[in-house]
Amino acid sequence: MGVLANFVVNVLPYITFIVFVVGVIYRIAVWWSRPSPAPIPVFPGQRSVGSAITRVLADVVIFRSLWQFPGNRILWLGAWVFHVSFLLILLRHLRYFLGEEAVPGWVAAVQGLGIAAALVISIPLLYLLIRRIVHADLKFISTPADYFVLLLILSVVLSGLYAKYFATPFVVDVKYVMRSLMAFQPVDLNTVSLNSAFLLHFFLVQVLAMYIPFSKVMHLGGIFFSPTRTHHFGGEAHTKKLEEA
Ligand code: HEM
Repeated sequence: MGVLANFVVNVLPYITFIVFVVGVIYRIAVWWSRPSPAPIPVFPGQRSVGSAITRVLADVVIFRSLWQFPGNRILWLGAWVFHVSFLLILLRHLRYFLGEEAVPGWVAAVQGLGIAAALVISIPLLYLLIRRIVHADLKFISTPADYFVLLLILSVVLSGLYAKYFATPFVVDVKYVMRSLMAFQPVDLNTVSLNSAFLLHFFLVQVLAMYIPFSKVMHLGGIFFSPTRTHHFGGEAHTKKLEEA
């Protein structure tokens, strides 16, 4: 295999890791340093730490805010199915990273769901993409970055499906490569059975990982720093104090 393949397998993953980790830490540091001098008593507000935690969890797990967004339950469904599928695909991929020989039981147990998710995820992805093209108002507020991230994820998914169903790289070697990289041991590509489909998939995944810290995908972390969700203002006692003041 050539110089390019060697770069994608033996060099780029470390660059990707550094860009991803430093990028995410930088974004969190910026959010963390934003001044937030007073709790925001926005109606209906968060009365206590407990209700703030419940609110954030409801937004993360069942996309509560999107559910309450008037009149668009299909958007809620599309977004939720997309995120759950993405998570299941990632869990299925843990088989390349975990376990000396056999993968842990729970990773083995999630494989079927991971495949189902891989087959399904293109539907919500295409929906999220097409709605930006066909709705005039959404098209107006969409930026190239909105299309780019959806197309990038779609290309990761399609290259993965192509690898699985048509090109079939030797997954035992894929695991060997991933574990070698984790141990900082370069891999001699002449000794493993990978192929171009896998290399393309792996390359696209790394582009996605490097792009994430600088993209809207960081809403994954931003939600935990969102003042109207996380601030709590002490309930009626606080409101009363404000009235008296
Ligand atoms: C280091 C990261 C990754 C590696 C090494 C990797 C590797 C692979 C390999 C080897 C396959 C083919 C599996 C087979 O032949 O049975 C595959 C499939 C696939 N990959 Fe990835 N992948 C990575 C990250 C991702 C990410 C972030 C996504 C996000 C959507 C993704 C989506 C898919 C999909 C949808 C499939 C097809 C279904 C499946 O076998 O799971 N991959 N991947």
